[in-house]
Amino acid sequence: MIFPKPIEIFCGTGGVGKTTMATSRAAFLASQNKKVLLITIDPAKRLRQLLKLENSRDGEVHSVEIDFQGETVQLNAILMHPRSTLLRSLDSEENRNKLKDNHIIKVLTKPYGGMNEIMAILEVQYRLDQKEYDCIILDTPPGKHFIDFLNSSEKINRFFDKTFIEIFQYIGNKAEESSSLSFSKKILTQIVSTGVNKLLSYLEIVTGNEFLEEFKDTITILYDRKDFFLKALKFQEFLKQKTLSNWYFVTSAEQHKIKDAVEIASSAHDFTHEDKFCLVNKCLGPYLLKWHPSDQSQVLSEMRTTMLERENKLKEGAQKQFNRVIDFPEVLEAEPQKQLETLINRWNETVGTS
Ligand SMILES: Nc1ncnc2c1ncn2[C@@H]1O[C@H](COP(=O)(O)OP(=O)(O)O)[C@@H](O)[C@H]1O
Ligand SMILES: [Mg+2]
Repeated sequence: MIFPKPIEIFCGTGGVGKTTMATSRAAFLASQNKKVLLITIDPAKRLRQLLKLENSRDGEVHSVEIDFQGETVQLNAILMHPRSTLLRSLDSEENRNKLKDNHIIKVLTKPYGGMNEIMAILEVQYRLDQKEYDCIILDTPPGKHFIDFLNSSEKINRFFDKTFIEIFQYIGNKAEESSSLSFSKKILTQIVSTGVNKLLSYLEIVTGNEFLEEFKDTITILYDRKDFFLKALKFQEFLKQKTLSNWYFVTSAEQHKIKDAVEIASSAHDFTHEDKFCLVNKCLGPYLLKWHPSDQSQVLSEMRTTMLERENKLKEGAQKQFNRVIDFPEVLEAEPQKQLETLINRWNETVGTS
């Protein structure tokens, strides 16, 4: 089997089976008596039912039981909820209350709202620091969002860029000295260019006075937690080390999907290490090999050969780009529990590095 690492990260374009693969890996490791935490961004509906995460968009850890070979396997799962991660990251109840209904935070932590990737990193870092799990499995956002995710430590750095932050801290201090809103607005007016100034006055008309107040809260409260946010950058170092992470680039057995996986792996190159696994999901090979059309049906025989050859060629192509390529079958049973069982068994057969 592929030796488990403290962090295992699943990436790829939408629909190839990232979430399914990540979940089956989590269940497999749990069946090997590992304490596993699965952090998933957006499980498909049926999988969510299976994991009993239907009503748990709360970022809390849920204990999940999965039936596997007549036994019950226990694992832990979180459905990422960026706003909960952010609020938990603050250091006081007072600040949490201030930002709880803050509109700017609501927008930033909406799906793909700009802070999700940073929050996913914070979530993983927080769970790593808890030291409760043998293995944290991360199902990442699809394609481009995944690259954003990897770049997000850069985003954190930029956010806390010294000069930018000093300006806002100055506003914060001034605003504290004089609690009147018009005063902090005056300061803002002084330091920003006329263009931005105009924009702010428009925004104020559209959003009401509360916009500037919320803006100020957001910046100053987040800045107060800067050390905490910057600590999350450690996580990026984790991902670059063979002994600490396993990388899985998930694709399905189609020409353009494999191309996508190669592209994603190449964009992610600076963040990964050389031991990358390519998981070719939804392969028909295992069925085709067992299928022997009778001699009379030449068309079927030719079809079988062509399909096998095509799939093998795709896998060979993948092998040139990734040092480890593992195929997973297209599971014919529609029931998610059955799908999961087949895939868990496949993880058991895989050969990897230690
Ligand atoms: N090996 C497989 N066999 C059959 N169906 C699969 C397999 N892997 C994934 N699927 C199906 O493909 C769809 C997309 O899978 P999902 O894991 O949600 O993809 P992603 O997370 O990459 O968007 C789901 O309906 C899932 O049940
Ligand atoms: Mg998914």
